Amino acid sequence: MLSYQHAYHAGNLADLHKHALLASMLAYLTAKPKQLSYLETHAGRGLYDLAGAESEKTGEAAAGITRALSENWLPADHPLRQALDAVRARHGANAYPGSPLIARHFLRPGDEAHLAELHPAEHQALARVAGFAHLHRQDGFQMAQAICPPTPRRGLLLIDPSYEVKADYDAIPPQIAKLARKWNVGVIALWYPVLTDLRHAAMVETLRRDHPEALVSEVRFPPARPGHGMVGSGMVVLNPPYGLDEEARRIAALF
Ligand SMILES: C[S@@+](CC[C@H](N)C(=O)[O-])C[C@H]1O[C@@H](n2cnc3c(N)ncnc32)[C@H](O)[C@@H]1O
Repeated sequence: MLSYQHAYHAGNLADLHKHALLASMLAYLTAKPKQLSYLETHAGRGLYDLAGAESEKTGEAAAGITRALSENWLPADHPLRQALDAVRARHGANAYPGSPLIARHFLRPGDEAHLAELHPAEHQALARVAGFAHLHRQDGFQMAQAICPPTPRRGLLLIDPSYEVKADYDAIPPQIAKLARKWNVGVIALWYPVLTDLRHAAMVETLRRDHPEALVSEVRFPPARPGHGMVGSGMVVLNPPYGLDEEARRIAALF
C-alpha cells in the first residue's frame, strides 16, 4: 500500500508520547559505556519541516510539540528536548526529528544502527540524513528477523508501523514473539494507535498475555479532527530500561 506519509503527522501528540519514551530509553542505554545496537523496522524520512505544507495542512504539530514546548512539558534536560534542540540548531527552528535523528543524537562511535524504510521517496529522504546507519529498503520485520540477535547484543528495536491494513494488527504479536525468543535481552518497543473502533485492542491484549513483564504506556487525547479515529497513543516495551515506568507516568499525567 505505502500511502501513509508521516510528514502530515510529525510532531503530533502521538509522536510526542512515542519520542519522549524513545529518547528516555536511549539516554539511559547510552549512559553506560557499553556499545549497543539500534534497530528500526519503519524509520520514516528522519527529518520533518513543521512549516511545510503537509504539517500546515493538518495542524497536528501545532497541537503537539509546539504546544508542549510552550507549556514546558519537556524541561531543558529532558532527553527529547535535548535531541530536538540539537536538530533545530543544525536544521532550523521549524525542524522536527523523526525517530532516526533522535537515535542519532544519542548513538556513539561503535554503536550500530539498522533502519528499514520501504517507501522509495521516504527512503531517499532518509538516506540524506542517516549516514550514521545501515539503511535497508525492505520490509522492516524481514530486516529485524534477519538481524536479531544483533551485534552488539545489547540494544533497542523500535517497531513503528503505519497500520495501513487491519491485518497488520494480527501479524504483529507473532513477529514480536519470534523476535523476543531470538533476542531475549533486547529492548523491543512497539508503538500503536488507540482507536475509537478498538482495532488495536486484541493485539495489545495478546501482547500483554505473551509478555506479562512488558511495560504498556497509553495516553489519550482529543482527535486531531472531528470524527478522526485516533484518540490516543500506546507503547508496549519488552525489557523496559530502568526508570522508563516513571517517565511513562510523568508524560501520561501531562496529556
Ligand atoms: C509511522 S511512520 C514512521 C515514523 C518514524 N518511526 C518516526 O517516529 O519518526 C511509518 C513508516 O513506515 C514505512 N513503511 C510502511 N510499510 C513498511 C514496511 N513493510 N517496512 C518498512 N517500512 C514500511 C512508511 O513508508 C512510513 O514511512
